[in-house]
Amino acid sequence: MSKFDKIVYQIYPKSFQDSNHDGWGDIRGVISRLDYLQDLGINYIWFNPMTVSPQKDNGYDVKDYRSFDPRYGTMEDFEELAKEAKKRGIDIMFDMVFNHTSTEHEWFQRALAGEEKYKNYYIWKKGKGPGVPPNNWQSKFAGSAWEYVEQFDEWYLHLFDVSQADLDWTNPEVRRECADIVNFWRSKGVHGFRFDVINLISKASFEDDPFNFDGRQFYTDGPREHEYLRELNRASFGQDEDHLTVGEMSSTTIDNCIQYSGADCEELDMVFSFHHLKVDYHNKMKWELQEPDFMELKSLLTEWQVAMQENNAWNALFWNCHDQPRSVSRFGNDGKYRRESAKMLGAALHMLRGTPYVYQGEEIGMPNAYFTDISEYVDVESTNIYDILLKEGKPKEEVLHILQERSRDNARTPMQWDDSPNGGFSDVTPWLKSASSYPSVNVKADRQDADSIFAFYQNLIRLRKTMKVVQEGWFSPLLEENRQVFAYRRDLEAEHLICVNNFYEAETEITLPLEGYEILSGNYPDAVVKNTIRLRPYETLILYKKD
Ligand code: GLC
Repeated sequence: MSKFDKIVYQIYPKSFQDSNHDGWGDIRGVISRLDYLQDLGINYIWFNPMTVSPQKDNGYDVKDYRSFDPRYGTMEDFEELAKEAKKRGIDIMFDMVFNHTSTEHEWFQRALAGEEKYKNYYIWKKGKGPGVPPNNWQSKFAGSAWEYVEQFDEWYLHLFDVSQADLDWTNPEVRRECADIVNFWRSKGVHGFRFDVINLISKASFEDDPFNFDGRQFYTDGPREHEYLRELNRASFGQDEDHLTVGEMSSTTIDNCIQYSGADCEELDMVFSFHHLKVDYHNKMKWELQEPDFMELKSLLTEWQVAMQENNAWNALFWNCHDQPRSVSRFGNDGKYRRESAKMLGAALHMLRGTPYVYQGEEIGMPNAYFTDISEYVDVESTNIYDILLKEGKPKEEVLHILQERSRDNARTPMQWDDSPNGGFSDVTPWLKSASSYPSVNVKADRQDADSIFAFYQNLIRLRKTMKVVQEGWFSPLLEENRQVFAYRRDLEAEHLICVNNFYEAETEITLPLEGYEILSGNYPDAVVKNTIRLRPYETLILYKKD
């Protein structure tokens, strides 16, 4: 299967569509919305984990890798979903969480019960002294990355929540178990896999971090990482011609990603990297706000495009996911220019080289939730950081403002289908409150407009599926010094495509040699092609020429 014509739609199942009146999204809810997805044109759905989980981290704390949490539905429901999706030309990608399991997983429970075999599935170390953890590493969700277990007088590692114990990948039995899980889902007809924080599975050493105290340099892109991925590939998905795999790579490097996704490396098909989504982190700190650094954004996107292309490696392209605030609020303008900027961001991303991912609600320009009280938040990361920042002495209003901009719950509020209560997601109170924007920002309202964001995305998706230059064209940056326009070209033999994007409200003039180009798409209906174009607020243009 070629990865070139794939467009992946990410469903956060808990928030997509409730069908059984319990305020949780579920598989039957997704089935009822497949026609919508077919209409959008996507050909893959990535589902966040739906397997049994105590939900401390919304499913990324897996208790049982092989069965669905009943709140999502049953294996029969899933089989029907897969069949109905296939009928509509849509394949399925599942999320494999292999860096850690829930501490409620049978393996961890048997470890606690004293079974040596299972104890060796996890990472245990002696403390430095009574009550002192083995090293100074910090959990990604705040606090020490180690938890003491009295009966062993040892600590287990948890890079995330205390209920997410890290697996020990040096143990071949752990690696075999993970391959078996992938094979289980392959036997159910799943051939797409997203591997959660997969570049953290090989820990280099367990020494104190002398620099920034979180320890990431010792567990990111570790020494056996590529070996483990090749082994997993050979033992599982690599046996399928039609697999589609993506690794979530936390704080990674281009060099490693070239190897993770290089055409001949036999690891993964593509990678998610996050550097472009940190350009609004002040001092690289997630909880310190700053305006996006546009020049840094441009240069990062360009650098990754160029390096990956030159080495025949492949990017996953995304602005949004369940861990990121909404792009239209972050890089666009979710007030007066919500439509224009949502379309511009879509075009700027979809014409790049790589595989685009659309996160639910992005195709109608859903903005951040803008919750005003901490009680409205559910995400463990948000509630932890709220307490920490208050303790550090930050005023409550400021902390709430930070969460409005940065919380993962901004992405996780229920999908906004129409203006009925809870946006048509559920007829009972949802597990996470709907964003207050739903009466005006919803699928029904958007699609009533001939010039909808949805229709614009449909067109972007159609361009990728039908045009070789979008799939395989060579990327080169344009107007690199321009401080408000991100522009680039794609070239494939006689075909040429140019995409220009004004990232600001201010108008600006650009000059490019555009003789012979025609407009494939844009967000202002009356645009005309000239060598000098005055770009209006958030204007985007996709231009095309055939020699
Ligand atoms: C990934 C997931 C995120 C989760 C974390 C721990 O980053 O995308 O939602 O909290 O891994 O599994």
